[in-house]
Amino acid sequence: MEIGLVGLLRAAWIAGILPIVIASLPYSRLGLFHGLVLEFAKRGKIMQSSPYHKFTVPQRFFSHFYMMAVVWTTLLLLTTWIYAYRTASLVPEPYFYSSISSYLAGGSNIFPFHKLHLISSEHRCSIWLSVFLLLLMEVQVLRRLLETMYVFNYNPSARMHIFGYLTGLYFYVAAPLSLCCTCAPEMFKFGTNEITQFIVKGKDTMQAIEFDWYDFVNPLLKLGWCQWVGATIFFWGWIHQLRCHAILGSLREHGRGIDEYVIPYGDWFEIVSSPHYLAEIIIYAGMVVASGGADLTIWFLFAFVVANLVFAAAETHRWYLRKFDNYPSNRLAIIPFIY
Ligand SMILES: NC(=O)c1ccc[n+]([C@@H]2O[C@H](COP(=O)([O-])OP(=O)(O)OC[C@H]3O[C@@H](n4cnc5c(N)ncnc54)[C@H](OP(=O)(O)O)[C@@H]3O)[C@@H](O)[C@H]2O)c1
Repeated sequence: MEIGLVGLLRAAWIAGILPIVIASLPYSRLGLFHGLVLEFAKRGKIMQSSPYHKFTVPQRFFSHFYMMAVVWTTLLLLTTWIYAYRTASLVPEPYFYSSISSYLAGGSNIFPFHKLHLISSEHRCSIWLSVFLLLLMEVQVLRRLLETMYVFNYNPSARMHIFGYLTGLYFYVAAPLSLCCTCAPEMFKFGTNEITQFIVKGKDTMQAIEFDWYDFVNPLLKLGWCQWVGATIFFWGWIHQLRCHAILGSLREHGRGIDEYVIPYGDWFEIVSSPHYLAEIIIYAGMVVASGGADLTIWFLFAFVVANLVFAAAETHRWYLRKFDNYPSNRLAIIPFIY
């Protein structure tokens, strides 16, 4: 089942990346295909001139992505965390911590024990790593939910293509799952087992959980440098996205019309047209680094985010150049000094 889930997730990410990459190739023969992919990806201001308004939903439905993401990520995080706590408590503490640091440093000679023991201790470390990555995801989707509710002033006539809407819903199911896919099947088994026991045997006969905050949090603090470098990159992008979203949300204040578009200034808007997309790429790059870079599924997730947002940023940049004669000429689309 594990290979099945991992394989499915990878196939889905590749299926999402390929059309965008092909549509981005600079061949005139691909013009029609580029137009089609762009129609699906359009939203808000760049959708104003679209002839396909029938197949659209309001752009404020973006909040649905984050409502679902918060519920799903919280569920995965809690299950993984409790599962990690239970499995870690099965191993004597000194062996567990030495195996964590050795595993994260890429060491293969982790335990001078039987090979089977070595595999299971490696796996326990990967479960704690999943908890760490899901914590980062939780921090991201919680902020995004609050922003869609309290920061952005969505234009009532702003729309997005229904295909983009469904892709967004899929993204926020698959992205948190990709961060814990190596342990997801056994974790689901653990979760359903606990629930079944609770239903069949009742609360009183279930194994009592002796809850110790120290053991619940301490393995996370003992993770390696990769995780802390990744978290630093993540929060660097996170803070800039917060600032750029605050700028976007404030553009329609002070008596400006709810449907009016203006040139944003400040923070990374001084160098690129879509700094909030750039920040999102940095946030996911932080997750790749925090994962240790060895999980191909997380790389595919990152590649999808890059392809999707670079594609959208290119169109947004063209829209700004068409709309405003006085648009700052030094601004690029998304990657400072490059693109
Ligand atoms: N992980 C992923 O694959 C993924 C995919 C998509 C989005 N996202 C993230 O979600 C966030 C929001 O994305 P989005 O595409 O919805 O952003 P967006 O199109 O830039 O819109 C964000 C908000 O700002 C307003 N706005 C944008 N430009 C404006 C301007 N020049 N003047 C006035 N108001 C303006 C929009 O108004 P309207 O209501 O009129 O549009 C909307 O309310 C981004 O940070 C992005 O990174 C992530």
